[in-house]
Amino acid sequence: MSQLQKKEYVRNMFAGISKRYDFLNHLLSLEKDKYWRRFAVSKLPRGYIIDVCSGTGDVAIEASKNNRVIASDFCYEMLQLCRPKLEKKDIKNVSCIQNDAENLSFKDGTFDGAIVAFGIRNVADIKKALSEMNRVVRKGGNIVILEFSLPENKVFRSFYYFYFKKILPLVGAIISKRDDPYNYLPASVMAFPKRNEFVELMKDAGISHVEYFDLTFGIVTVYVGHCNGENSVGKECVF
Ligand SMILES: C[S@@+](CC[C@H](N)C(=O)[O-])C[C@H]1O[C@@H](n2cnc3c(N)ncnc32)[C@H](O)[C@@H]1O
Repeated sequence: MSQLQKKEYVRNMFAGISKRYDFLNHLLSLEKDKYWRRFAVSKLPRGYIIDVCSGTGDVAIEASKNNRVIASDFCYEMLQLCRPKLEKKDIKNVSCIQNDAENLSFKDGTFDGAIVAFGIRNVADIKKALSEMNRVVRKGGNIVILEFSLPENKVFRSFYYFYFKKILPLVGAIISKRDDPYNYLPASVMAFPKRNEFVELMKDAGISHVEYFDLTFGIVTVYVGHCNGENSVGKECVF
């Protein structure tokens, strides 16, 4: 599949499951997803934040407690589901903007921090998206990535694989009435770079001082790096 084909495939897939996305997210993660997003958001500096691949906006909403936030995604059907949540919670400091993560329509150094949760794995050109996040963040700002990982403990991993490769696709398919997305999920996680490889990808994209935190037995990992200003002409570092 070419990068262009992957992009279209991913966009159509999320458009197709958008209405069931939140429900399945909470169900299949046994509500752990809320804690994972909260932890990732806690690694952001305060200020002006972009949530890339925001989907239905849960990270943007979490980040809006302390920040002004842009929720951006290239899938209109996903992003439009953020708006009613903002209205219901009377949140005024989040703006939704349809944007491609590989080509963000913001000037260098616009934001204090950029975050992507469960999105980077789905992007066709991961390095381009990481470079874009680095570009739009000011010098000294943070880039935070929350993504699924493979647990390192062998015993736990065998139970987890059974759930992840057998149960999750079955439940996902029954509820979303589509086979593809919930087979794509474990397949894309298996194909995603290992922790150290991903750290190298972040560094290649110009992000510095990268560290990572495994959560929930290493089911997910939060990567945190800093913009060293090489691609940025933004404000002075406030740290
Ligand atoms: C698994 S969802 C994650 C949504 C949300 N961040 C969350 O925590 O639930 C992945 C999202 O990435 C978006 N996405 C994938 N590739 C993208 C790209 N190149 N540009 C913008 N959004 C993209 C999809 O449209 C989808 O909404």
